[in-house]
Amino acid sequence: MVPSSNGHLWWQRGVVYQVYPRSFKDASGDGIGDLQGITSRLDYLRWLGVDAVWISPFYPSPMADFGYDITDHRGVHPRFGTLEDFDGLVAEAHRLGLRIILDYVPNHTSDEHPWFLESRSSRDDPKRDWYIWRDPASDGGPPNNWISVFGGPAWTFDAATGQYYYHAYLREQPDLNWRNPEVRVAMYDVLRFWLERGVDGFRVDALRQLVKDDRFRDNPPNPDRWPASPPYDALRPVYSTDRPEVHEAVREMSLVLDEGASPGERVLIGELYLPIERLVRYYGEGGSGVQLPMNLHLISTPWDAARLGDLIDAYEASLPQDGWPTWVLGNHDRSRIASRVGPAQARVAAMLLLTLRGTPTLYYGDELGMRDVPVPPEQVQDPYEKNVPGIGVGRDPVRTPMRWSGEDNAGFTSGSPWLPVGEESAEVNVEAQKRAPRSMLTLYRRLLSLRRSEPALTGGTYAPVKAADDLLAYAREKDERRFLVALNLGPGPRTLGDSGLGRGGRVVLSTFLDREGEAVGETLDLRGDEGLIAETTTLPGV
Ligand code: NOJ
Repeated sequence: MVPSSNGHLWWQRGVVYQVYPRSFKDASGDGIGDLQGITSRLDYLRWLGVDAVWISPFYPSPMADFGYDITDHRGVHPRFGTLEDFDGLVAEAHRLGLRIILDYVPNHTSDEHPWFLESRSSRDDPKRDWYIWRDPASDGGPPNNWISVFGGPAWTFDAATGQYYYHAYLREQPDLNWRNPEVRVAMYDVLRFWLERGVDGFRVDALRQLVKDDRFRDNPPNPDRWPASPPYDALRPVYSTDRPEVHEAVREMSLVLDEGASPGERVLIGELYLPIERLVRYYGEGGSGVQLPMNLHLISTPWDAARLGDLIDAYEASLPQDGWPTWVLGNHDRSRIASRVGPAQARVAAMLLLTLRGTPTLYYGDELGMRDVPVPPEQVQDPYEKNVPGIGVGRDPVRTPMRWSGEDNAGFTSGSPWLPVGEESAEVNVEAQKRAPRSMLTLYRRLLSLRRSEPALTGGTYAPVKAADDLLAYAREKDERRFLVALNLGPGPRTLGDSGLGRGGRVVLSTFLDREGEAVGETLDLRGDEGLIAETTTLPGV
């Protein structure tokens, strides 16, 4: 391990910021964001106070799933720029002290990838076994009952060779066969390719999907499915996902990351929609897994003090001894936090994200309080929405352009943006919020700066104080520095009766940015929708 000044690694202290490249900044004027656009805004990210930038896929792709369908894992799609642009981005990021994390998509390729074209060309092709081909069932139908995450069967018939191929997502995204050693070697070389270009880590896409049941058993029905849930939820994907063999592959990936680097210098983040007890297994035996198995539970847990308190307690209690926690409020696949909980609570959510123990991931635009932008049916681009219309799974509304200014198209592009910028762009933009001393952006910046200056908020202990009656309160402590975080999750005023502030304390930050320095005591009054961080002199039974 490479300890930092306060004994933690950069990805433990730091905050990850997710950039969706189509939507961040368009330098070329074609209406779609690009690498030069990202490079031009790295100084903004430095100013904001994040530490690492995770960039969603920018590789060559027919864009059936907007870049998660790759035809060349070692290139840059011309819409996004060139490899030279990428090298320039890394150099500039490192110059500014920012780390770069790439999206690594090992589970599937595009159906136009040369590997798949070879594989489907004949049953005898040397690459046939690089993908998952099966004979039809006895009735001629798919080999088993597995469903695609994006709706419909997960098997597509190839008439020319008389077999089905498996795709966990779109039919344009055939799954690689990770039981084939040649596939593993080829995909580890992809990691090496980008590591040699200087990247600091990877977010591993769809990790739980990587290895499938060797007997391809049918998935059982899901008794907990609720009527309006997506088709994928009809079955429990116990044979198609989270198989024990995924952990072997993760161990090998993590060895590749350690090649030529000190252990822990580079980071692997796993995208894992899994219950906590299964999620934490991805830390691996003796730390052989991913450093950060993404905890996505803040996205799905109801915004309620008791439920959130239970989640945090359960997660903290499940972590292995060296397992470093991680929290995510939103991403390019799920409704934005400001739409899920409303603009007032989005400020409270920001305080929660940036004061919990563990590495936070912040989705671009959430620092402005951007909300989901309605996209009219005729403009829908997301293949998931097209496959499963009308139940609200569409991801376009959360992928709309970043808002830089009050200019046309929010300063995102000089052309015509690929998705609408939204009606709130006159106020909800970087330029306007930079000037406003109590804006959401100012709040994020203050929270990020506080995290940076107070090791108790990064490496300190976590202790629950209260989780009921709209109040979620906890303490963070390290080396004589003690902080109480008290969040009012409701619109009405609340009093934290036993704040544990003992001999008293003072407000360090309110989500309204107007109480700093105020003295507080054993009883802490919170306005509706207010979050407070107080510095304390004693803590309650902690
Ligand atoms: C998860 C990604 O976040 C999502 O956007 C993508 O569609 C699927 N994996 C398939 O790669």
